[in-house]
Amino acid sequence: EKDTLIMSFESSCDETSVAIIKNGKEILSNIIATQIKSHQRFGGVVPEVASRHHVEEVTKCIDLALDKAKVGYEDLDAVAVTYGPGLVGSLLIGIMAAKTVAFAHNLPLIKVNHLAGHIYSANFVTELQYPFMSLLVSGGHTELVLVTAPGVFHTLGDTRDDAVGEAYDKIGRVLGINYPAGKKVDEMAAVGKDTFNFPRAMVQEDNLDFSFSGLKSAFINTVHHADQVHEELNKDDLAASFQGAVLDILTNKTFKALKLHPVKQLIVGGGVSANQGLRKRLAEEIEKRDMDMELVFPPLRLCGDNAAMIGAMAQIQYDKGDFAELDLNADPSLDF
Ligand code: KG4
Ligand code: ZN
Repeated sequence: EKDTLIMSFESSCDETSVAIIKNGKEILSNIIATQIKSHQRFGGVVPEVASRHHVEEVTKCIDLALDKAKVGYEDLDAVAVTYGPGLVGSLLIGIMAAKTVAFAHNLPLIKVNHLAGHIYSANFVTELQYPFMSLLVSGGHTELVLVTAPGVFHTLGDTRDDAVGEAYDKIGRVLGINYPAGKKVDEMAAVGKDTFNFPRAMVQEDNLDFSFSGLKSAFINTVHHADQVHEELNKDDLAASFQGAVLDILTNKTFKALKLHPVKQLIVGGGVSANQGLRKRLAEEIEKRDMDMELVFPPLRLCGDNAAMIGAMAQIQYDKGDFAELDLNADPSLDF
């Protein structure tokens, strides 16, 4: 059979990325231009600044992706792009670039859901077996998703308030850590102890939803109160206590979902899937329960936003003939 080569674009937040993917499985190139430095002094992503960076970076990323993959436009079979969820101005730059390549080279256009992309990062690691369970943990989302067939998603649980990555970034800010704070908090948690006993919201409840705003508030109140009475708190212990609560919540809901839907694979995806504490904890819990289930994490470089994962998802849509029109628009609040 003939190989399929897809050029994919990702620009939903603060990373501009272009990849060339072969058969949805092999990464020929995956160029990622990150703008984190430009946003750090603001303590978070500034949409207007993000859009301007995408404009500057996207054509460079295209050239680098073709160069690195050693292919030309004539070798491509399709162009894919993230059309949501994300920042509308940022999404539009990737969409415009993808449309331009598709139109100029007469290639079909594929519109990809960013969240589906995070889930399909696993396609570079393992042979997916349907149905599988996915725990999607990122800066904007916290969801349990049952994937019953290629590209068929059923959301079982969602966050009622903050996303888990967002909670990491907000409490990190209180600890004086630069945006995005997740990685540093994870490192501090590894040396600290869970001494503060923060609330584990909704774990007693019989549903698969999450809530992190109460935990975030409890954390912030604890730090502010200590400041007022000039008490010095151990930051590593604070981080470990926060992460302890997060891991209890994520674990509790994930295994509740797995009990209702026993599957052969648990796929973790999104920026927070880089978390070392989460990786260790889920592995331990599976071992403890003696479950015959494969636990899959993307390689670290594919946990954050990247175009390779968009290419993996796009291949499924390509095989189904699921193509978009050239009047494609961004959908900032897209879900499954
Ligand atoms: O998927 P992603 O790159 O962007 C979104 O689609 O939101 O996720 C970014 C989020 C940030 O909130 C960041 O703090 C978090 O992932 N993150 C982590 C870790 N590495 C990144 N959170 C916890 N532990 C980590 N090691
Ligand atoms: Zn993401």
